[in-house]
Amino acid sequence: MPNPVPCAIVIFGASGDLAQLKLIPAVYELCREKLVSDKFVLVGYARSKEKKDGTPLTDDQYRKDCYDAIKKHARRQPIDESVWKRMEKNIYYVSGAYDSAEDHARLATKLKELDKSHETGGNRLFYISTPPEVFEGIITRLGERLKSKADTSSGFERIIIEKPFGRDLQTAKHLNAVLHQYFEEQQVFRIDHYLGKETVQNLLVMRFANSIFEPIWNYKYIDHVQITVSETLSADDRAGYYDKSGATRDMIQNHMFQLMALVAMEPPAALDSISIRDEKVKVYKSVRQMEARLTDTHAIRGQYGPGQYKDKTGMKPTPGYTKARGVAPGSRTETFSAIKLFIDNWRWSGMPFYLRTGKCLPEKLSEIVVRFRSPPLTLFQKKSDAVYPNDLVIRVQPEEGISWRLNAKVPGGQMAIKSVALDFLYKTTFKAEPPEAYERLLYDSLLGDQTLFIRGDEAEAAWQVIDPIEEAWAKSSTPPQQYAPNTWGPKAAMDLIELDGRRWLHSSADDEPIVACSL
Ligand code: BG6
Repeated sequence: MPNPVPCAIVIFGASGDLAQLKLIPAVYELCREKLVSDKFVLVGYARSKEKKDGTPLTDDQYRKDCYDAIKKHARRQPIDESVWKRMEKNIYYVSGAYDSAEDHARLATKLKELDKSHETGGNRLFYISTPPEVFEGIITRLGERLKSKADTSSGFERIIIEKPFGRDLQTAKHLNAVLHQYFEEQQVFRIDHYLGKETVQNLLVMRFANSIFEPIWNYKYIDHVQITVSETLSADDRAGYYDKSGATRDMIQNHMFQLMALVAMEPPAALDSISIRDEKVKVYKSVRQMEARLTDTHAIRGQYGPGQYKDKTGMKPTPGYTKARGVAPGSRTETFSAIKLFIDNWRWSGMPFYLRTGKCLPEKLSEIVVRFRSPPLTLFQKKSDAVYPNDLVIRVQPEEGISWRLNAKVPGGQMAIKSVALDFLYKTTFKAEPPEAYERLLYDSLLGDQTLFIRGDEAEAAWQVIDPIEEAWAKSSTPPQQYAPNTWGPKAAMDLIELDGRRWLHSSADDEPIVACSL
């Protein structure tokens, strides 16, 4: 694998959850694999001058925080202390306001010093991992400095932006305009961590490195596609962010649309960032706009009520979403969303894509099921029994892998058919846990490879699909439907698919019964 060049990685929002849980452990794992240059520095930037207990936030204190984060959250445990020893001396902390020109000037001076002491070559990777309210301030301050720099040949400046990229088309356009005022699109890395997941990348390999799929990958052979991203945890502790977002903006507009686009896109002209992203944009542009009159049946929103949900440590009570601290009284923010979409192009004409996601559901699961049509002749069927159709199940998490459900004869004298699964599991086939999404994405941004990042027009095209749904919901007199925690969402979400004669599927569901057939 290519070795990234020297670089200073600056994390805005250095003490936030994402930095502690994912980013710092990811940098450590990259150091462990020698996938960052020895000449790198990690600079944490945040508002805090001191910790909650009053300890001043110095370089040393920040190093200690990073160590704790790695000890707790690194993918491979126990951690390798010799790697930490190498990494530790490259970590620094700068405190400052996010939109203060003065504080950004201090940061710039610090980075110049580090260029000298660590030979980072003037290369900068700015990672914006803050609440969205301060994105614009940070981008503007970074941009102003960049513009006033006489010589830009002294290194690259790249900017990684966390989601949410806007909350609708208008705000996404505005954010793109702010970025493009100062940065070229090649410098902008809009992150969607689902694209860093191994199975998601494998979708491209599965579709375009195997010849068996292409002839049947269309509405003629596929009955429908369904995508489930379910979570057991509640949104009770994240109301500040979540209440302004909701399940559709938080998960469908980005992560789930990426999954849908990779399933639905046409073969790209080449495996490069331009060609792949061009094809994804075409998918979003072909999605049929949701008519307001259809939202009651095609776009179902739900809200969990009081009850018990599954936490990492066992069952935990929730007062219900609207009663959680920080949630606006009478909030209509949805914690569950199920949507039926159509991609009006040559390949997918008339064939539905069903998407559902939610908090406080019974399982943590991200899965795509491609259900094929039943055989044209029901040779093996008794009058009323159905032979289970073929499914291709792409499991993004947990137990990353792919399985094919086929029908096989049960051994014995009678003609009985059972649906069986041919399973490919990453961990047994490759005897390795796939790297964390953030490791891959950080590495790619250090190399300057944008393939697994969202292009500006792509983010806008995805909002163009979501906006009519959100607008119809905002005007609707029907509030989100309540569902009990630890269930699969409101009844209307079942109706959404069941009234079409289909049902939600997931690989951990009970096996289909053996179907006895008479010839
Ligand atoms: C984030 C959402 O982008 O993705 C969270 O903001 C969600 O609400 C998370 O919990 C899910 O990510 P993963 O990788 O655990 O499926």
